[in-house]
Amino acid sequence: MLDLFAQHQTFMHKALDLALEGQYTARPNPMVGCVLVQPGLDNAEPQVIGQGFHAYPGGPHAEIVALNSAKSAGLSTIGAVAYINLAPCCHVGKTPPCIDALIEAKVSEVVYAIDDPNPISSPNLAEKLLTQAGIKVTKGILAERASKLNQGFISRMQRNRPYVRAKVALSLDGNMALKNYQSQWITSEAARTHSQHFRAVSGAIMTGMGTVVFDDPRLTVRQDRFVKLENFKQPVSVVFDPNKGITPDRKIFDKSGTLVFDQPLSEILSLLATEHQINDVLLESGPGLLNQLIDQNLIDELIIYLAPRLLGKDAMNISQFGPLDELSQSKDWVFQKCEQVGDDMVIFATPK
Ligand SMILES: NC(=O)c1ccc[n+]([C@@H]2O[C@H](COP(=O)([O-])OP(=O)(O)OC[C@H]3O[C@@H](n4cnc5c(N)ncnc54)[C@H](OP(=O)(O)O)[C@@H]3O)[C@@H](O)[C@H]2O)c1
Repeated sequence: MLDLFAQHQTFMHKALDLALEGQYTARPNPMVGCVLVQPGLDNAEPQVIGQGFHAYPGGPHAEIVALNSAKSAGLSTIGAVAYINLAPCCHVGKTPPCIDALIEAKVSEVVYAIDDPNPISSPNLAEKLLTQAGIKVTKGILAERASKLNQGFISRMQRNRPYVRAKVALSLDGNMALKNYQSQWITSEAARTHSQHFRAVSGAIMTGMGTVVFDDPRLTVRQDRFVKLENFKQPVSVVFDPNKGITPDRKIFDKSGTLVFDQPLSEILSLLATEHQINDVLLESGPGLLNQLIDQNLIDELIIYLAPRLLGKDAMNISQFGPLDELSQSKDWVFQKCEQVGDDMVIFATPK
């Protein structure tokens, strides 16, 4: 029999795996999974009696899906332990509060990973209400994994701006395009297919006017594995056009809802979070916009697809700042992960 802490971790991992099933469709809501477990009596193994995840905004929350799955299997929820990666909601939103459903189902314990990041909700409200109803509360289990999973939602709630990933196709000598602006394609088809996932999990894809002029990208998710998902919505296209030069014949206007901004970058990100409920932005620009965002500390993560080719002299380098006089003036990042994709490598880095 597992010790209690290991048991909590096992079932919280399961709740987080379930939450991930909503990664392409739950936005702008957080990804939430719930596992209902009947603790084993007399050294018997605990039994999963229900589970679920939040699939789309306006749809049932994970707790309700899990409770309903136990009910429809004819299994009693009395005395069960509910594992959820986010504190159960206490307010009436598009659906009634989950806390009431858990109390009504007579669960004995709620184990959750992190509190509701929304600053307008009192951080310990769920814990207080559950405790008042005689339900044991354990929180903080796998909090790091849970925070990372919903980093976009948490960023929108707590920083009033989305989590910003910048995707860059780079040659081994650090270039994003040739001097004549040609950049299609530096990386392999395998890398481009791989990167579609990051478009599909983002509420918005942002680029700069230079890229719109030279590449005329569509900035859409095109793979069937995403677009054929029930409740999948295309990310919004966002163009930074400070010189107001964009023309309506560009492909980004082929789909409706494209946003064009000329404000300072921090203001644009704030508008995307507060007025458009964007949790995650994927930046797919040239070095111009990328460097402006890096300079203003507005990039949370770099996703670099590194191709094993050299573009030579006068190609368009990823770095547009400097020249620096001292190595101590360099902009430093931390490698988080690296993997091979076809002939290329993908490297994930966060600011130091
Ligand atoms: N390797 C990759 O991952 C990748 C990805 C996207 C694009 N690219 C390549 O990057 C190059 C474009 O880079 P970028 O730095 O120019 O663009 P960008 O970062 O997409 O856009 C940023 C800035 O481009 C400037 N700009 C450049 N040409 C313009 C024009 N004709 N009209 C209006 N504004 C213009 C504007 O600012 P200013 O007024 O301050 O100049 C704009 O704010 C292209 O060759 C593209 O193929 C490579």
